[in-house]
Amino acid sequence: MNIEAMLAENARAVTVVLESLLPIHDDPEARLIEAMRYSALSSGKRVRPFLVASSASLFDVTKSFALRVAAALEMVHCYSLIHDDLPAMDDDELRRGLPTCHVQYDEATAILAGDALLTRAFEVLADSETHTDPRVRCDLVWRLARAAGAEGMVGGQMLDLMAERHTLEMEEVTRLQRMKTGALIAFACEAGAVLGKASDSARQALLAYAHDLGLAFQIADDLLDVEGDEEEIGKKTGKDAAAGKATFVTLLGVERARAQSYMLIEQAVQHLEIFPESAQPLRSLAWYVVNRSH
Ligand code: IPE
Ligand code: IPE
Ligand code: MG
Ligand code: MG
Ligand code: MG
Repeated sequence: MNIEAMLAENARAVTVVLESLLPIHDDPEARLIEAMRYSALSSGKRVRPFLVASSASLFDVTKSFALRVAAALEMVHCYSLIHDDLPAMDDDELRRGLPTCHVQYDEATAILAGDALLTRAFEVLADSETHTDPRVRCDLVWRLARAAGAEGMVGGQMLDLMAERHTLEMEEVTRLQRMKTGALIAFACEAGAVLGKASDSARQALLAYAHDLGLAFQIADDLLDVEGDEEEIGKKTGKDAAAGKATFVTLLGVERARAQSYMLIEQAVQHLEIFPESAQPLRSLAWYVVNRSH
């Protein structure tokens, strides 16, 4: 199976789980659930869920456990996108080919939908259906909290906003991207090792893979912002330059940024050498990340 087909199959499976974890109801606050479903069930690539499922499959983790962790992480990712698109942040009107959450509903509802997706994610991780061992569940909660919070994604978003007003050095942009995008990607890869109670060496190899992949992923996103097709990527392009944002592309230029992303992926794949055949989906995903057109 090629990587697009594998991603599509994984996206279907995780969407079914998301659907069941975010049930429709007809209470007066149903508008909130609608907005959560609007964003979480829209057609993302589901790269992070794919990383959870593929890392978990290295250690024979029960599939339903991995899918619940994948769904929880996707909820956090979708919340981050809803808030990222708000007028106070990137002020975007198009996401995944649809009007952004605050355009479809309203700003207050979008803020609340993001808040509720974030908290629902932790409720799912803590639930006994996510793993039989409460220590594993607690470890997942702790790691996702760290990855999503001030030392991870949210901290990175703060730096990203500051990058609109300051020129950043290469080192600073690297740190920003590792926090903003890399942290959730690292959680995705480590989650399989946590679920499968893997050895330290296996966990370290996955983290090293994620470290390079996360950076390459954001470089690819920044390249798509410069040269991607709006229709294909389902979001507006040219936003980073318009906002005067420092990225690898503004620092290095298109060609060198692309070369850097390929170098990172070669490195990422090397870290998987300790895994035999079973890591093939992770290798394919790594190349997909830098070759994607959306
Ligand atoms: C976009 O993430 C935001 C970044 C962290 C670069 P994705 O490219 O994974 O977006 P979806 O989930 O496929 O829409
Ligand atoms: C967003 O980065 C990363 C998040 C943590 C949500 P971008 O602002 O570059 O993502 P897009 O381009 O809007 O998807
Ligand atoms: Mg942003
Ligand atoms: Mg944005
Ligand atoms: Mg972007």
